[in-house]
Amino acid sequence: MSYDLEFVMIKPDAVQRGLVGEIVQRFEKTGMKLLAMKFLIPSIEQAKKHYAVHEGRPFYEGLLKYITSGPVVAMVWEGINPVQHVRNIVGATNPLEADPGTIRRDFAMTIGRNLVHAADSLENAKYEMSIYFSDEEIFSYKKIDEEWVYEE
Ligand code: RTP
Ligand code: MG
Repeated sequence: MSYDLEFVMIKPDAVQRGLVGEIVQRFEKTGMKLLAMKFLIPSIEQAKKHYAVHEGRPFYEGLLKYITSGPVVAMVWEGINPVQHVRNIVGATNPLEADPGTIRRDFAMTIGRNLVHAADSLENAKYEMSIYFSDEEIFSYKKIDEEWVYEE
């Protein structure tokens, strides 16, 4: 079975703070399928493509500096309504407004260091994963629990 794809990035602050396992586990436990994962330092070119929609905003330069400042974990997750599921798990952009139990509420203090990025639409997810992954790096495989995660 193949469903829709969401692009997620564990940002440099989360890597530095030793939160990679905790964050991956929250996505993994939902039953979503991990199709791609890469540990990399985003280049300035990748960061500019990634955040092109924010160009000109007051926080844009700081955002580029933040996201290129160290290693990140880029991932592709597959599921039904993956964008909504992932963004529910991540929480509101500003940790002050994020619901209890979300990553940003539980582990972050400020909007400028909010630990995780998640694409906000299927279309943007497709665009963003193309910045960090080739088609061959996004795997297609059967996972043994699928029939227990989704009703046929
Ligand atoms: P993301 O794209 O990282 O998943 O976060 P988001 O959709 O919740 O937030 P978005 O509006 O797309 O903003 C992208 C990232 O820019 C930084 N930001 N800083 N200082 C500020 O006012 C401000 N506003 C946004 C955050 O790192 C945010 O995640
Ligand atoms: Mg966004």
